[in-house]
Amino acid sequence: MVRVIYPGSFDPMTYGHLDIVQRSSKLFDEVIMAVVGNPGKSPLLPPEERTELIREVVKDLKNVSIGSFQGLTVDYAKQNDIKVLIRGLRAISDFEAELGMEQANKQLFPELETIFLMTKAEYSFISSSTVKEIARLGGDVSQFVPPPVNEYLKRHFSRGTK
Ligand code: COA
Repeated sequence: MVRVIYPGSFDPMTYGHLDIVQRSSKLFDEVIMAVVGNPGKSPLLPPEERTELIREVVKDLKNVSIGSFQGLTVDYAKQNDIKVLIRGLRAISDFEAELGMEQANKQLFPELETIFLMTKAEYSFISSSTVKEIARLGGDVSQFVPPPVNEYLKRHFSRGTK
């Protein structure tokens, strides 16, 4: 049985992330989407809300579960007996950062293999930051994010929160 981790900030989850988790769920026995409290970013959504939205979006994917952690991805992987990490690649611009992470993770946990799935072309320009900016300025993001995320962003920004 192959259990994989798909970690990310997911601030918020987009259709690009959904595409990656759907495809992973067909390739592997069990997928854990793990929300990372990444200190390098200032998230819009608290980790609990990111987790709840993901749970709602992936509820029909029976072999996908949701986790969250602070700290190193490799430590979470070791604790949960995971030896495969999934990441999506959108464009060449993602490659450098992803290669660096893959190599650092490999040094820290040599048994961990990172597998990259190429993001579908129609989602390759989407980023969580773009979605947040459009939503903040009153634009429609329904084509970029699943309905529960869209509803969350509408509620959030209609309160006048920045
Ligand atoms: N389709 C569309 N967009 C995608 C995408 C896809 N398939 N994959 C990633 N993105 C976008 C996201 O929308 C996000 O956009 P943003 O930069 O505007 O926010 C960006 O790419 C990356 O976000 P995400 O995939 O959510 O993850 P991340 O890069 O924030 O997280 C971690 C990277 C969590 C895996 C990494 O920081 C980590 O492992 N942290 C834990 C600490 C650790 O172990 N550090 C050492 C790592 S070497």
